[in-house]
Amino acid sequence: MFVVVGVTGGIAAYKTVQLVRLLVKDGHDVHVIPTDDALRFVGQPTWEAISRNPVTTSVHDDVAQVRHVALGQRADLVVVAPATANTIAKMAAGLAGDLLGTTLLATTAPVLIAPAMHTEMWLHPATQANVDTLTTRGVRMIGPETGELTGGDSGPGRMAEPERIHDAVLRELHHGSGGAAGSAWLVTAGGTREPLDPVRFIGNRSSGRQGVEVALAAARRGADVTLLAANVDRSVLDRAAGDPRIRIVPVSTTEDLERAVESRSGAADVVVMAAAVADYRPHEVADEKLRKEHAEGPLRLELVETPDILAGLARRRREGQTIVGFAAETPVDGESLTERAVAKRRRKGADLLAANEVGWTAGFEQDDNHLLVVDDSDEVVADVEGTKRDTAEVLVDAILARSR
Ligand code: CTP
Repeated sequence: MFVVVGVTGGIAAYKTVQLVRLLVKDGHDVHVIPTDDALRFVGQPTWEAISRNPVTTSVHDDVAQVRHVALGQRADLVVVAPATANTIAKMAAGLAGDLLGTTLLATTAPVLIAPAMHTEMWLHPATQANVDTLTTRGVRMIGPETGELTGGDSGPGRMAEPERIHDAVLRELHHGSGGAAGSAWLVTAGGTREPLDPVRFIGNRSSGRQGVEVALAAARRGADVTLLAANVDRSVLDRAAGDPRIRIVPVSTTEDLERAVESRSGAADVVVMAAAVADYRPHEVADEKLRKEHAEGPLRLELVETPDILAGLARRRREGQTIVGFAAETPVDGESLTERAVAKRRRKGADLLAANEVGWTAGFEQDDNHLLVVDDSDEVVADVEGTKRDTAEVLVDAILARSR
């Protein structure tokens, strides 16, 4: 897609470099239009190197190609990040004094802006009135977020993080045409916890990052996602919390998760069981805290098996529904990850199974992952190493390729 990124004169311009990088990585044709002020923060060579396209800043460049309107006419989407108070005022007034101004007037594509300014400027009635004007015209706002601002003060005015702007851009680009538009997804993330007593539990190290990234990747393709989050840290869940396509339902124990899956899976076109589910739970849960003085010798816990939610889903799967399992595997001598993934997929009856190798240092709580996806013909349909966001994208591609 042809994406125009307008950059205006705020310190947050340095973060827009990351936004451009993400868009280029997606394969979009990205054209950056920095204002003169923006170039005081990040220079033209940086924009050219990162966008891999020439950058012009003046309406008088390439006049023969009518560049002052050509970029706007060709754009599938225009995003302005950061958008300063001055730029927002100029946009509201329809001023066309520079290349970004003419582009914004010439385009009929969706326009997204990520405001960035000091709190007082953001809250000023003039800025708020301009924002209202732009919103009424269909311009979409991303942020601003509340947080620390340059200069040490804090409040609303901070530019949304580049990953969040990127999510919003992709959602807009795929809107109505994304591979998952109109479909309902149920994604589980995190790890279940089985209580021993009111203060202790048996749990696992799953952070929920991979599952949250799967939910985000599906939402970017236009899916309506219910995310069943089992003990996922606020900091991880925040990535999905602002996404209007994702509904978050917190759960804790395997029983909670099973109940939530049962009541919601019927309506889902795709179910992704990324959560690490406890295989056993204590036979009895003590009403009061277990005390050492009551134990004689080693403490013995009796554990009973929990129901296999994934296998149950696969058995009851309805026509057209895609069931996807996960497997976190520690290395086994003489057996490859593929062999173990194939065996587990068969045992569970899932349509696809995504396996990754874990250990004391690999897999859990990490940003990077190695994911291998096998299908019901025992074929490896994806084998990818990268961030959990990258691996989620590839998994969602594999799911969409199958459910088409
Ligand atoms: N799973 C589930 N219900 C359980 C246990 C696991 O739905 N009680 C799901 C997980 O969400 C995951 C897949 O099954 O999608 C594989 O989980 P894993 O713990 O690797 O499977 P197990 O059957 O427990 O296999 P193992 O004996 O290797 O632990």
